Amino acid sequence: MIIFRNQNLTQEEYIKFGKQFGELTVHPFATSLPDHPEIIVLDNDGNNPPLSTDQWHSDEMFREEPPAATIIRSTITPSIGGDTLLASMTAAFDGLNPALKNFYANLEAVNDFKVFRALYEGTYEGRKKLVEMEELFPNVSHPVVRIHPVNKRPLIYVSPQTTKYIEGVRDFESEQILNMLYQLPEIPEYQYRVRWEPNMIIIWDNRSTQHYAPRDYLPHRRRMERLTVKGGKPFGSKKKMKGSVFKMNIRGTDRAEKTGSHRKNLTRPSTNMTKNR
Ligand code: SIN
Repeated sequence: MIIFRNQNLTQEEYIKFGKQFGELTVHPFATSLPDHPEIIVLDNDGNNPPLSTDQWHSDEMFREEPPAATIIRSTITPSIGGDTLLASMTAAFDGLNPALKNFYANLEAVNDFKVFRALYEGTYEGRKKLVEMEELFPNVSHPVVRIHPVNKRPLIYVSPQTTKYIEGVRDFESEQILNMLYQLPEIPEYQYRVRWEPNMIIIWDNRSTQHYAPRDYLPHRRRMERLTVKGGKPFGSKKKMKGSVFKMNIRGTDRAEKTGSHRKNLTRPSTNMTKNR
């Protein structure tokens, strides 16, 4: 990540700055400026708390091609709180035991725009719009261990904000694997904490980091403007363990799930498969 202090830019200048880093994208769910749809406005206070930014995530993992970088600038900073925490998911991977590195490198996770579903709740029109959004942004699988396209280093790529389940394992297995992975960005050694000042711009690599914006400033106001730089399709390592979990998935055939023919041999109560739900 890079920090630029004391940048008193107009919105046009800010967009021009963002375009130095690549093509800017428009967020399909977030509130943006009518004249500049590339600029997402994060304007929160006690009456309008943030939707989901106080959860570890990398931006827009529900996309087939999630953003390469996120750029944020502060326009109103609260007198207390409102920092942004970043975690290096490369460091999180490096810190794992080699056996776990190998295990996670064989997994794929399904991602969904799940937190944004709340925007469409409650009305018939909302539900219709949600179906449209589901067609535009169907669930997408990403490798659990993504290889950074520039530095080629492996990193952990799941987030409670978007990840639904690990493919090819049972529900209780998926849940426990994800819970282990979700704890990694919480380790302070992997973190950097941005203390915002007025007119500060930061840009982070959205592939190798995750971030978390605590809502500790509420009920005070915090207003930020965000730009998002287009990225590519995540890929994992080609070197996979032999006999991956997909093959070891003893009760994992769709047919067995449909007919229940596998159930007589079960030794554990929870057998729902996470694939093809
Ligand atoms: C975000 O999650 O993109 C927003 C982070 C922040 O408000 O600091």
